[in-house]
Amino acid sequence: MDWNKIRNLFPATKKFAYLNAAEASPVSVMSAREAKTFYDEILTKGDLLWDEWLEKREKIRKKVAELINADKSEIAFTLNTSHGMNLIAGMLKGIEDPDGKEVITMEDEFPSSTLPWLNLKYTLRFVKPENAVYSIDEIEKNITSNTKILVTSHVQYKTGFKQDLVELGKLCKDRDLIFVVNATQSAGAMPIDVRKANIDFLVFSGLKWMMAGYGVGVLYISKKWFEKVDYPVAGWQSVKDPSLMDNRKLDLRKEASVFELGCPHFSNIFALGGALDLLNEIGKKNVERRIYELGDYLVEKLEELNSGLSFRIVSPLDRKYRSGITVIGFENAEKIVQELYKKDVVVSARGRGLRVSVHVYNNEKDIDKFISELQKLLDSESFRDPS
Ligand SMILES: Cc1ncc(COP(=O)(O)O)c(C=O)c1O
Repeated sequence: MDWNKIRNLFPATKKFAYLNAAEASPVSVMSAREAKTFYDEILTKGDLLWDEWLEKREKIRKKVAELINADKSEIAFTLNTSHGMNLIAGMLKGIEDPDGKEVITMEDEFPSSTLPWLNLKYTLRFVKPENAVYSIDEIEKNITSNTKILVTSHVQYKTGFKQDLVELGKLCKDRDLIFVVNATQSAGAMPIDVRKANIDFLVFSGLKWMMAGYGVGVLYISKKWFEKVDYPVAGWQSVKDPSLMDNRKLDLRKEASVFELGCPHFSNIFALGGALDLLNEIGKKNVERRIYELGDYLVEKLEELNSGLSFRIVSPLDRKYRSGITVIGFENAEKIVQELYKKDVVVSARGRGLRVSVHVYNNEKDIDKFISELQKLLDSESFRDPS
């Protein structure tokens, strides 16, 4: 794989050592071109290409389905993770008694995983990690007779811990739990197989590891749920034949796209299409391999740097639990982020950690630059405050 060629598709990498996919990735020229083409078309032709845009959307839906081994009918385009998770919580509310049924989830979840359930008055039970790891045993210990739904991120945003979805899916199946996954920190980086992992519902946003920019997300609903759930929202595009524009008959489509209520957010969906083309060109396995390669290089350099100083890598280093995120414990992470940004190194601060993400547009030089700028900061008196 010519990684330099891939990197050149991301103009942002010319200026920045951009190590921040966990917050938001830059988009590639392929995504930008797709969105721009849409605006050029609507600029010059107004609404005349509506049918072609719908066709294009369906082709992208198929590519999304292939990414996670789902069926096209199981995919809905959303705006973001929160949007998708709200729809799931709403769908299950009708069939699961929120007063009697607990949702089990992880202590460090991003709020998009938890607030939609709290809003609908589900009871949440939180599992605690040990050294950032949520073991299947510990999760199992927290299941009670009231637990009916399990919500977890595939990769945790604060530590980079990656859950084994196949093992957890097996537990959910054995214990008859509905398995809900937030894949925002993994989709586009780590392979996902919704069938193999027995996932009931899955959501992700486009802006991070998918490299598709803002305003587009994905909701996967296993087809076994199509007939069983309530549909908490509906619009004119939710019915079997929207062209009828029947304002009395609620003939809902029994597939995930029922939640695409009205006119689509075409430009954002098309940007996602560009991102999927790029990922397909590279290949899922190559993406994962490259992320591990860069992650290993980062850890090696951090360990060298750490020999004279003292900080702790918070992320689990066992390959089974690793992702594209490496978090380093620093009390003053916010300050470090600001200082690094002045040197065109882009990382983020989460909790007491400095979060460094590596993706296919990065290279070893980005990491070298990050390490050398970090070293300079740590060598300066005012920054000697590692946790
Ligand atoms: C695990 C996880 N889920 C979701 C989000 C973002 O949520 P949304 O797509 O609703 O903006 C983030 C962003 O940091 C995240 O880390």
